[in-house]
Amino acid sequence: MDKKRIEPSVATNSAKELPVMGGSFVHLKDERVSLVLATAEPTAINPNPLPRIVHWGAPLAASTDVAEIVSLLAPPTPHAAADVPLERSLLPLPVDGWRLRPALQGARADGTDWSPRFKLTGYQALGAEESTATSVWFTMRDPVSRLRIETDIAVSGGVVTIQQVLHNEGDTDYLLGLLAATLPLPARATEILDLTGRWCRERSPQRHPLLMGTWSRETRRGRTGHDASLVFAVGTPGFTFASGEVWAVHLGWSGDSVLWAERSPAGFAQIGAGELLHPGEVRLAPGESYEAPVVFAVHSTAGLDGVSAAFHDHVRARESHPTSPRPVVLNTWEAVYFDQDLDKLTALADAAAAVGVERFVLDDGWFGARRDDTAGLGDWVVSSEVWPEGLDPLIRAVQERGMDFGLWVEPEMVNPNSDLFRAHHDWMLQVEGRGTPTWRHQQVLDLARPEVSAYLLARLDALLTEYDIAYLKWDHNRDLVDAGHLGVAGVRTQTLALYALLDELRRRHPRVEIETCASGGGRVDLGILARTDRIWASDTIDAHERQYIQRWTGLLVPPELVGSHVGSATAHTTGRRLGLAFRVATSLFGHFGVEADLAVATPEVRRGIAEGIAAYKQHRALLHSGRTVRLDDVPAEALAQGVVAPDRSEALFSYAQLATSPVEVLPPLRLRGLDPKARYRLRPLTLAGGPTAQELAACPWIAAGGMEVSGEALMELGFSVPVMHPDQALLVHLSRV
Ligand code: GLA
Repeated sequence: MDKKRIEPSVATNSAKELPVMGGSFVHLKDERVSLVLATAEPTAINPNPLPRIVHWGAPLAASTDVAEIVSLLAPPTPHAAADVPLERSLLPLPVDGWRLRPALQGARADGTDWSPRFKLTGYQALGAEESTATSVWFTMRDPVSRLRIETDIAVSGGVVTIQQVLHNEGDTDYLLGLLAATLPLPARATEILDLTGRWCRERSPQRHPLLMGTWSRETRRGRTGHDASLVFAVGTPGFTFASGEVWAVHLGWSGDSVLWAERSPAGFAQIGAGELLHPGEVRLAPGESYEAPVVFAVHSTAGLDGVSAAFHDHVRARESHPTSPRPVVLNTWEAVYFDQDLDKLTALADAAAAVGVERFVLDDGWFGARRDDTAGLGDWVVSSEVWPEGLDPLIRAVQERGMDFGLWVEPEMVNPNSDLFRAHHDWMLQVEGRGTPTWRHQQVLDLARPEVSAYLLARLDALLTEYDIAYLKWDHNRDLVDAGHLGVAGVRTQTLALYALLDELRRRHPRVEIETCASGGGRVDLGILARTDRIWASDTIDAHERQYIQRWTGLLVPPELVGSHVGSATAHTTGRRLGLAFRVATSLFGHFGVEADLAVATPEVRRGIAEGIAAYKQHRALLHSGRTVRLDDVPAEALAQGVVAPDRSEALFSYAQLATSPVEVLPPLRLRGLDPKARYRLRPLTLAGGPTAQELAACPWIAAGGMEVSGEALMELGFSVPVMHPDQALLVHLSRV
C-alpha cells in the first residue's frame, strides 16, 4: 500500500499559515465559491466532534461573521429524535448519529473498530488573505480504533478538491470498505443530472428528482466505463446550461467508483464520491495507508456552463496541460483498419499532408501476429511480415511530409493467441485456476505483478527509444471482470499499476503525448487525464452522434483534449450518411482530426477537408482557450453551442439541425457570453458541402454578407437562422469591432 504522507496543499506562492480563524472556523474562498467549515460543539456521545461544513456554495464576503451564521443555522430539536440535534460532520459516521451512507466503512478482521470515533488532532489552513484560506488540512485520530485520517481540502478556480488518506496505526489488519468525500446539499437541490451510455453512445444525460433515499451510480467495470457519470450533478429544479444553482462532483479515478446523492427525512442531504472497493480489496496492515482518489466538487450559480467553466479552468491550469496548438491528426483506423502496407500508407500520408494534416497516427495492426483482433495483442514487436524494414520507412515518409508520427498500443491486454500468453499464462488478471471470459478475444494482464509492468515498460520504452514517436494512442478495449490479483480483488492495484507505468514512461519520454482511449470513451476521468493529453471521446465518429457525445463530454473536459475526427460520408458505426460540412463543423469543436481513406477520396472531398482544416487552424487558438457556452433556448431538434474568447472579443457558434422541425421558420438564435456593450461583426462561416449559398441567402443578414451589431442585441434578440435539412449546421463567427 502507498505510504506517502499527504501534504497540505499550498494554493498560492504567497500562502502563509493562518491562525485558527475566528477561534473555530475556516472560510475557504475564491472568486467563485465559499466552503465554510466550523468546529462543532462537544456532545454527550462525542466530546471531540469533527468540523462540519456549514456552507458549500456561492462565495460569501471575506468579512462574513461565520459564528453568526452558525448560530443562525443551529437547528431545533425535533420530536421523537436525538435530544441534541444532530449535525453532519466532515466525515459523517454512525457515532454522530448519522443514518445516511457513512463516509468511512470498514472493520478489523474480528469485526471490531467498525464504528470509529475520530477526534480532530490538528489542522493547518493556508491562504494569502487575512480572514479566508485557500486550503486546509485536517488530521483526525481515533485512539481506540487507532485509525487516523488526513483530509486536505483546497479551492481554486471554483473547484474544491478533497483528498483523504487513512492510516492504520493499530496492531492488526484493517479491512476498508469505503472512504468517500461527502458534501452537504441544501434543501433546494432537488434535481439530479447524471450521465450513462454505452459503446458509441457515451455520456448520455438522465434526470430525476432527488427524493428521500439514495440515487447511487456505481461502476464495476475495472475501468471508468462507457456508462460512467463523468459528472454527477444536483441542482435547483429545472437547472439548465445557463441557469440554476448546481452542485456537482467528479471522481479522479480510472477504476471502480461510486457517486451518489441522498436525502433523509431528518432534513439532511449529501452528495458523495469515492472508490468502489471490492470485499477484502484494501486490507491495511499495521502501519499501512490508503490514499483515496481525489474528489473534485464544483458549485455553480450559472447552471451547467458554470460547472464546466470551473472544470475547464482547473484542467487548463495543470502543469502538464498542452500549450502547443493541437495538431491536426490523421488516424489510420477507419481508413485502412488492419490492412497495413507501406505503399498504401505512404499514399495516405501524401494525401494527408496535402490537406494540412500535422500528425499521422498508425492504429492497430502493426505488431506481432495482429492481422485482425483475434491475435497478437501483447507481442509489442513490429511485425516483420507487414513491416519487413520496421516502421522506419513509414515514419520517414510521414516526417518528410512535415507531419509527426503516432502509434497505437493497448498495453494492458493480451490475446490468448499470442506469444506472450503462450509463455506467461500466469500473468493474467484473474481468480487463479478459473480464467475470465474473453472479450474482444482478449484477456487482461495483471499489471500489479512487477514482472508484467516491467515487461510492458521495457517494450514501450524500447519502441519509443528506437523510433521517433511523438504520440501514443493508448487503448483499453474491455471491461475487467472477476479481476483477481494474487488471490484478492485486483481493480485498485491494477489502476495504480497503470498509473505508475504511465508515469514512468512519461518520465522517460516527456515529449511523447498520450491519448487515452478505451473502446472509444470508456476511460475519461481526471485520474487518467493527469497523465494523458487527449481523450478519444467515442468510437463513433458519426457527427450526428458526436454532437451529443461531445456536448456532454464537455461538462468536464475542455475541447482541446477531446479527439474529434472527420469520418467517411457513410459513418462506419451507424451507417448514417452525412455531408462533409456537417462532419467538419462537428469536429471543429474538439481536437480536430481525419479518419477516412483520403488516398481514395475525390478531389472535391479533399478540397473540402483542406478547407475544414484551414478553418480549424484559423480558429483553434480561440476554440482551445475560450469559454464553452451551450444555448438552451433552441428547438428540441437542434443543438447550439459556442466558444467565446476569455476577453469576449471573438466567438464561434454552431447551430446544428439534427432532425426536421415541426415549424416552418426557426426562432431567432439568442447567444450568450458576449459583451453586451461591444459591437460585433457577425458573419457565417461557410464550409464546402454545407447549406448552399442559396439556402443561406434566404436569411437577409446572411445575404448581406454578415452584419455589425451589439452584443446586447445578439443576446437579447438573437438573429435569424436559415431553414436547414437535418444534419446541417450553421457556423457563425463574431469579432468585436
Ligand atoms: C478500439 C479503439 C479504436 C481502434 C481499435 C483498434 O476500438 O477505440 O479507435 O483503435 O480499438 O483495434
